[in-house]
Amino acid sequence: MCSRVLALGLVATGVLVAAGPCDIYASGGTPCIAAHSTTRALYSSYNGALYQVQRGSDKAKTDIKPLSAGGVANAAAQDSFCNNTTCLITIIYDQSGRGNHLTQAPPGGFKGPEANGYDNLASAIGAPVTLNGQKAYGVFVSPGTGYRNNAASGTAKGDEPEGMYAVLDGTHYNQYCCFDYGNAETSSLDTGNGHMEAIYFGDCTSWGSGAGSGPWIMADLENGLFSGLSSGKNTNDPPISYRFTTAVVKGRPNQWAIRGANAASGSLSTFYSGVRPSASGYNPMSKEGAIILGIGGDNSISAQGTFYEGAMTSGYPSDATENAVQANIVAAKYATTSLTSGPSLTVGSSVSLRVTTSSYTDRYLAHNSSSAIITQAVSASSSSTLKQQATWIVRTGLGGGNSGCFSFESRDTPGSYMRHYDFALRLGTNDGTKQFAEDATFCPQTALNGLSADSSIRSWNYPTRYVRHYANVAYVAGNGGVHMFDAAASFNDDVSWVVASGFA
Ligand SMILES: *[C@@H]1O[C@H](CO)[C@@H](O)[C@H](O)[C@H]1NC(C)=O
Ligand SMILES: *[C@@H]1O[C@H](CO)[C@@H](O)[C@H](O)[C@H]1NC(C)=O
Ligand SMILES: *[C@@H]1O[C@H](CO)[C@@H](O)[C@H](O)[C@H]1NC(C)=O
Repeated sequence: MCSRVLALGLVATGVLVAAGPCDIYASGGTPCIAAHSTTRALYSSYNGALYQVQRGSDKAKTDIKPLSAGGVANAAAQDSFCNNTTCLITIIYDQSGRGNHLTQAPPGGFKGPEANGYDNLASAIGAPVTLNGQKAYGVFVSPGTGYRNNAASGTAKGDEPEGMYAVLDGTHYNQYCCFDYGNAETSSLDTGNGHMEAIYFGDCTSWGSGAGSGPWIMADLENGLFSGLSSGKNTNDPPISYRFTTAVVKGRPNQWAIRGANAASGSLSTFYSGVRPSASGYNPMSKEGAIILGIGGDNSISAQGTFYEGAMTSGYPSDATENAVQANIVAAKYATTSLTSGPSLTVGSSVSLRVTTSSYTDRYLAHNSSSAIITQAVSASSSSTLKQQATWIVRTGLGGGNSGCFSFESRDTPGSYMRHYDFALRLGTNDGTKQFAEDATFCPQTALNGLSADSSIRSWNYPTRYVRHYANVAYVAGNGGVHMFDAAASFNDDVSWVVASGFA
């Protein structure tokens, strides 16, 4: 019983079912006090809501639950609820029973991009995956997106012990502050060293760093991303970029650790385990017990990353308990799935993109001579210059890992691609940077206007945003947002395009 209880649980029916990560933590004497996942139940008996989505069309909300107790999220319920419109993740429920739900993060030391200073919410479709072959969606955090609970109960305070893990996309990160999951300030302000203890993932080098060029799992302890004993570089913390990465941070009086693994196979390695940093404020710690996702403790909102599941515990979990959690994650069989849908595109083909909004259907996406991308009326009798400006060569997506998404190279300016910059579409020269590659990657999907021959084309790195024409200029636009070009009126038609053969 004792040896088996880590991996298996016996339910009332007498049927053996795989335990969830939080059953395992409980067996280890360090129960979850927060359990967040949009992909699956983290307890074998959990049958309640995993997350809530809100759709753009009528602002209605619905809860997404597991297909069965302990199971994978019912992605089909989301797909059907969100059909022909956009959906945002409004709540990531706490499965622990403590009500430590994560909702749209309020303004803090840094203000979010919403009109009221709140952070953005994540698209409900930005991070599709499969678990044991069943589709589910993760939380794709673009810069500006964040979730928080400043009134959490049961989280570690002061120098109390805690543990936490998260399953992340190791290929989605950046160098800015801070893609975090864990314990933070209840005021959304930087209240000093040691007031946080959270998992950080990315390649920020402003405070600490590990071996090579990253990305790394580090601990955000406030005013410091720590990769080991001291602030600065600790080469025992290796770069880790598995498509599915397990990240672990835990801390207790004068002891803390960083661990990591491939979430799809193998076991956890320990990258640091030892005493607290010697800089003042970190021993003892002054943890405050709020919970953050995708942002820093002071609401720093510039980072990006993807979160699939995670939990925080009461008490300092043993390595053996965490190893059993890792085995459970591997058994969940996270795998990639297509980010595109609708009419297929062929790499190397020459295409044009025609407006579908009525009264504008003679217009096509075209760049002008100052590299803006606008819509222009184009026809067989147009000049060859205009025809070339309105023609795009489909390329494999420059960014987004092996996302299966695409980039659009200019017909008349080889080496230049459609990209967004400040949310306007522009023609830009590929400068080889990760930023350019990601800004120039787009994922076509079934058109929001509901017409099967058309496509909507969303930004890979801002999945709430779609290629849209507005006053004859092209943007990546959200469905009802703070910019004029985010206007909800006519959104579905303005983001739906006929992808036809190129003019030239
Ligand atoms: C969404 O609507 C389209 C067109 O009306 C339909 O073909 C498709 O099956 C629907 N999808 C879902 C998940 O309901
Ligand atoms: C290109 O379009 C942009 C956006 O409408 C505009 O500001 C710019 O003046 C245009 N450039 C030319 C050369 O027409
Ligand atoms: C989606 O849009 C199409 C075209 O407007 C419409 O026929 C269909 O009923 C819509 N589907 C849903 C589920 O609203």
